[in-house]
Amino acid sequence: MSDAGTTTNDAGRPGSVTPDAGAGTGPTAAAVSGPISDTVSDSVSDTVSAPVSGTWSGNPVAVITGASQGLGLALARSLAERGWSLVIDARTAQKLAAADYELSKLTTVIAIAGDVTDDDHRADLAEAAANLGGASLLVNNASALGGSPLPALADFPVPDLRTTFAVNVLAPLALAQLLLPQLRQHGGEIVNISSDAAVEPYAGWGGYGASKAALDHASAILGLEEPKVRVWAVDPGDLRTQMHQDAFPGEDISDLPLPETVVPGFLRLIDERRPSGRYQASDLLPKAAVADAEVA
Ligand SMILES: NC(=O)c1ccc[n+]([C@@H]2O[C@H](COP(=O)([O-])OP(=O)(O)OC[C@H]3O[C@@H](n4cnc5c(N)ncnc54)[C@H](OP(=O)(O)O)[C@@H]3O)[C@@H](O)[C@H]2O)c1
Repeated sequence: MSDAGTTTNDAGRPGSVTPDAGAGTGPTAAAVSGPISDTVSDSVSDTVSAPVSGTWSGNPVAVITGASQGLGLALARSLAERGWSLVIDARTAQKLAAADYELSKLTTVIAIAGDVTDDDHRADLAEAAANLGGASLLVNNASALGGSPLPALADFPVPDLRTTFAVNVLAPLALAQLLLPQLRQHGGEIVNISSDAAVEPYAGWGGYGASKAALDHASAILGLEEPKVRVWAVDPGDLRTQMHQDAFPGEDISDLPLPETVVPGFLRLIDERRPSGRYQASDLLPKAAVADAEVA
C-alpha cells in the first residue's frame, strides 16, 4: 500500500486517509476470496467452511465478528478504506458474501461463514488471521439479543439465556484467547462491543444486559492482565440496525443514527491507542459528528 495520504499511529498502523482514499486505492484489488464466494447458501449448516490460505500483504489485520451488516459492516468498511486486511464472519452466508464482495473491492478479505459459539469456526478465524500475517485488532461485535420481543427474566427460556451468554461473553473471550498471541506480537487491540444495557437496568433487558455487563467486567480484567494489548469495551449507543429493530419489533426506529455515524469514535480510539477501559463511542466523536448523529 502506498504511504501517500496515510498517517501511522504508535503501533505503526495506517491512520486517517485522504478523502478520496477508497475504492481502487486499497492495498490490493485482488482480494483473497473467502470460502463462501460464489456458491453460497443461507442454510446455517452449510455455512461453516474451512479457512483459505491468505496472502500476507503487509497490511495490519483486523478480525471483526458479525460484519455482514450493521455496526460490524460499518467498521469493516472504514478499516478497509484505511488499508486494513480483514477477517470477517457472520452466520448467514449470503449476507456475508455480499459484504465480502463489497469489501474485497477495497482490501484483502477472508470471509468465513459460521457461528462465533462454534469452536472450529473460531479456530478458522484465528488461522485465517495468522495466514494474513497476524491480527492487530479483534472486534468482538457479533451479539445475541436473547429473544424478540425481549423476554422478562422470570420467563426467559433458559436455553435462550444460555445462548445469549455463549454468544456475548464466552465466544468473545474464547476468540480473544486464540488471537492473543498474534495481538501481543503486534501490540494490538481488542474491541468488545458493549451496550448501555450493561450498566442501566432496563426492564426486559436482563439477559442481554447481564451478558454485556459480564463482557465489560471480563474486558476490564483482560486489560489489566495483558499489558501489551489494549482492551476496550465500547458502548456504541442506540443505532438503526436489525438488532435494534428486533428489540423493538414493529416500532419506528428511523430516527436513530446509522452505525456509520459512530465509526469515527472507534477510529479515534484506535488512532490514539487510548488506555484499556470502557468507552462510549459518542464521547469519542468530534462535535460535528455528534450533531450529524443526532439528526441522522
Ligand atoms: N443497534 C444498537 O442500538 C446497539 C446498541 C448497543 C450495542 N449494540 C451492539 O452492537 C453490536 C452490533 O449490533 P448491530 O446492532 O450492528 O446488530 P446487527 O445489525 O443485527 O448485526 C449483527 C451481526 O452479527 C452477526 N451475528 C449475530 N450472531 C452471530 C453469531 N452467533 N455468530 C456470528 N455472527 C453473528 C449477524 O449476522 P448473522 O445473523 O447472519 O449471524 C450480523 O452480521 C452488538 O454487539 C450489539 O450488542 C447495538
